[in-house]
Amino acid sequence: MRDLSHVIDALISGVVVIDAAGTVCEMNTEACRILEASAESARRQPVEATLGPLLAKLVRGVLASGRGHVENEVRIERRYSTAPLLAEIAVSPFHEPSGQGDGAVLEIRDRSVHQQLRDAAFERERMHSFGRIAAGIAHEVKNPLGGIRGAAEIVAKRSEDPRFVERAKLVIRETDRIAGLLDDFMVLGREEALRLREVNLHRVLDDVIDMNDLDPLSDGVRIERLYDPSIPELHADRDRLAQVFHNLVRNALQAMAGCQGDRLGIRTRVDFDHPLSRGDGPHVPAVSIEVSDAGPGIADDLRDHITDPFFTTRESGTGLGLSIAQHWVTAHGGRLVLENGSDGGTCARVTLPLRTSRRDS
Ligand SMILES: Nc1ncnc2c1ncn2[C@@H]1O[C@H](COP(=O)(O)OP(=O)(O)OP(=O)(O)O)[C@@H](O)[C@H]1O
Ligand SMILES: [Mg+2]
Repeated sequence: MRDLSHVIDALISGVVVIDAAGTVCEMNTEACRILEASAESARRQPVEATLGPLLAKLVRGVLASGRGHVENEVRIERRYSTAPLLAEIAVSPFHEPSGQGDGAVLEIRDRSVHQQLRDAAFERERMHSFGRIAAGIAHEVKNPLGGIRGAAEIVAKRSEDPRFVERAKLVIRETDRIAGLLDDFMVLGREEALRLREVNLHRVLDDVIDMNDLDPLSDGVRIERLYDPSIPELHADRDRLAQVFHNLVRNALQAMAGCQGDRLGIRTRVDFDHPLSRGDGPHVPAVSIEVSDAGPGIADDLRDHITDPFFTTRESGTGLGLSIAQHWVTAHGGRLVLENGSDGGTCARVTLPLRTSRRDS
């Protein structure tokens, strides 16, 4: 019979061929990646040794019953990676022409990327609906706010009583603060087009670092720039990107205030095969920018909420920094993810498509 191993290796699904005794006969490249095992180590071993208890049980069940089995979402615990992998699996029995009994073929399709993209699409939709309502309310509040500020200015100018002047000035300061907050808030509901042009990413990052350098928060912080010089100019909105990185760098500096660690790392790199595209479309070349700090990191139970508008754990925070950053990254067709960094702090990673300039919404 023709050797079809190169054809099986070309499949995007993981394939494991098992004989009637439950011994692994063959395993393709994708199955090796998913199961984190080599074909050599798996061959001639019982399924339990390579597939783990859950998949092995399903395979044994099919071998015993002779009936196929399909599951849409199975969490596969992995040998080395800490996070389980979400997969779609099918186990089909087959008859050995040699008459040695029925074997089974296990097909595993990695759904984790698909799941991530679905989550991102859901998040985008959620933010859009939220943003539209928010912008409507903000707009309504801004109009009377202008009137209140105007009236307070008149009182401040005309009043002879210093106590009234002082209070009117307080009203002016507070209305300005609320107006600033509303401006930030309204960003989330805006569908406005990005002003795309060629942007030198490293220059944007340098400008953000320089701007923050003047702030006392940066005192004693070592900023390490690990730039990939091969990154070409991006087709992007310079000001929006600056706002994204400014918010991330400020969060990093604030997280480090009062902490032992003093290193803030900014790393860029090209990722030629990144799953940024929608649905099951092709992977696209992307660039990642990581802002890593040596702060306390983000507690697991807060992680799902930190990009929610108004979620903050800081006394003087508005909780809009990350939602605005996510808004503009998404508008560029990119993604923003916050993870635990390797040194215990936080790593905020922005991934942007290298060439596309369309809004991915
Ligand atoms: N680098 C980080 N390390 C630890 N926690 C972080 C980090 N970045 C964000 N967070 C958490 O996420 C929350 C939300 O951040 P976000 O930037 O949206 O708002 P904020 O910083 O609290 O206020 P502001 O609107 O002024 O940015 C923070 O209050 C903090 O709890
Ligand atoms: Mg912030």
